[in-house]
Amino acid sequence: VTVKDLAGKRIVVTAGGTREALDPVRFIGNRSSGKQGLAIALAAAARGADVTLIGANLEVRPAASTGLHVVDVSSTLELEAAVTAAAPGADVVVMAAAVADYRPETVAQSKIKKETQGDTLQLTLVKNPDILRGLVESRREGQIIVGFAAETAEDREALVELGRAKAARKGADYLVLNRVGWTEGFATDGNAIIILDAAGVIVGEAAGSKTSVAAPILDLLT
Ligand code: C5P
Repeated sequence: VTVKDLAGKRIVVTAGGTREALDPVRFIGNRSSGKQGLAIALAAAARGADVTLIGANLEVRPAASTGLHVVDVSSTLELEAAVTAAAPGADVVVMAAAVADYRPETVAQSKIKKETQGDTLQLTLVKNPDILRGLVESRREGQIIVGFAAETAEDREALVELGRAKAARKGADYLVLNRVGWTEGFATDGNAIIILDAAGVIVGEAAGSKTSVAAPILDLLT
């Protein structure tokens, strides 16, 4: 039996990868599947939490029987609107989603055609809001905010160094670091994580299935 040590906690988890439209049929996206965020959401629900999963283009969906409240979004601005609406009622927000840092400045209203573009096509991208930073700035007393950092670091030391700088920049209570690459991190069933606190101190480390590494993250929220 699972101990219901998160009973009474309202947890918002974002998962998946945002897509930024170029035209009605194309987007700029990333390879995040949503599996890690989903694993955290399911594990939190199993431990008794009331969980809202804000899913950006999830490759895998929770069954209705899991009791998760699912909100589907696609772009970064949609994800921002959904998480900003849900955060005030949450004890914890876990930002596991891979959010696009930039989006096309304009979205073409009909398909971009190579016949009218010539041999090169220039895209102008504008910066998206940093949702995590916004959540930290409007955080209420006692609310816990967990960020993620997916990095293509050379090794563990480089990963931790990048993570410490990010922890200082973002101001989240915890930052979950994981290495990503062509074959690591995104879209796989396994993961290896290092958890930093706001000061950059390592407070957890785990490797295994995405389900198993969810446990030490949730342990920090009890
Ligand atoms: O700066 P970086 O994108 O590496 O930070 C990753 C963390 O910030 C993740 O928790 C991600 O969900 C969040 N993020 C965000 N808004 C963005 C970019 C990333 O909330 N525009």
